[in-house]
Amino acid sequence: MWSGSGRRPFGHSVWAAPYRSSARLVVGSSVVAPITLRQLCELGGTDPCAVLDPDRAFDYGPAGGTPELRERIASDLGGLIPDNVAVTSGAGDALASVATLVCRPDAHVIVEVPAHESLLSTVERSGCAATLVQAPIDPALVAELIGPTTSALFLSSPHNPTGQMLDAAVLRMLAESLACVGAVLVADEVFRGVPLGVVSSPPPAATVAPNAVSIGGLSKVYGLPGLRIGWAAGPTMLIDDVRSLQRYTSRCPPMTSEAIAMLALDCQEALLGRARALVYDAFVELTTICERHDGIRLSIPDGGITAFPELDVPDVDNWCARVVERYGILVAPGNACFGVPGRVRINLGLEPEVRTAAFPLLALALAESPELVGGSAC
Ligand SMILES: Cc1ncc(COP(=O)(O)O)c(C=O)c1O
Repeated sequence: MWSGSGRRPFGHSVWAAPYRSSARLVVGSSVVAPITLRQLCELGGTDPCAVLDPDRAFDYGPAGGTPELRERIASDLGGLIPDNVAVTSGAGDALASVATLVCRPDAHVIVEVPAHESLLSTVERSGCAATLVQAPIDPALVAELIGPTTSALFLSSPHNPTGQMLDAAVLRMLAESLACVGAVLVADEVFRGVPLGVVSSPPPAATVAPNAVSIGGLSKVYGLPGLRIGWAAGPTMLIDDVRSLQRYTSRCPPMTSEAIAMLALDCQEALLGRARALVYDAFVELTTICERHDGIRLSIPDGGITAFPELDVPDVDNWCARVVERYGILVAPGNACFGVPGRVRINLGLEPEVRTAAFPLLALALAESPELVGGSAC
């Protein structure tokens, strides 16, 4: 049974697909500007050949990732061991694997939406009962939804696109309620590391409670989506099952990417610093643009890399379509992409050159939207 918000939205990539050729500037995505291998090597003070040993055969690697990478992720998360970590082909794969394991036909799961498509489609295909809760969540109300057949609660922190972040006390409270019925808390933390409206990031869920799983990866805040490196970190028995599942699906993570991932984790402070600088600058610039209009409300997200302002337009999907056609910029409409009418998602992690070209056009599009003009519009 699939209960909750009804119609499933398309997701950004599906909505954006028909416009890709006409849109010069994609502003609605949710990834920090991807970097090159050369840039990464410069950050790490090494050269590509040292990272990618040219004499190493392209053999299969171990299911669930190399011991070195698992060890590295476990210690970076804090207090975990390699047996707590399975490396996957992106965080989407980690989410789908964990969902496959917990969505037994007789089980009930609670899923915060919007959520990544890999999770939603796996839950839906499993046929288990699902209760959808709209972000931003009220943790106490979510706790009340946990019942005797509940096997998992899926949350995102920071949430994409609302930016809601859950602190350690909330994560612990939810994990304890779930533990009473033998269920797990699964936190999608791919946007962790860029606090915005709060001072610092809470600890990863997997380090807060023994029945919590942290989903992470190098795609989003690290700007390395093409590496396809993600992970699930949590209870050893569940993680062992994720590795077993991988033996029959992708077999192992891509070994070349695993080697580059080790370098990326060595440079993580520099990569996160880059992401924070991009996001903070973009948010200040966007705030200035939005403050010119009474018809726009932009609140500061707790964290993550997306802004989700509210626009007083009758149909946000039509507004975004008009903006692509007239101004060549793709902003993600909240309704079509996430089932949230009246809002648009804007990527704060854009390359500075892209932002310099796109934000003035966005300002123009807003100023030329009669519904939004008001306040000190100029
Ligand atoms: C909230 C969220 N979780 C997971 C993913 C999947 O990340 P990856 O590209 O590492 O598979 C995405 C990608 O868009 C995402 O937005």
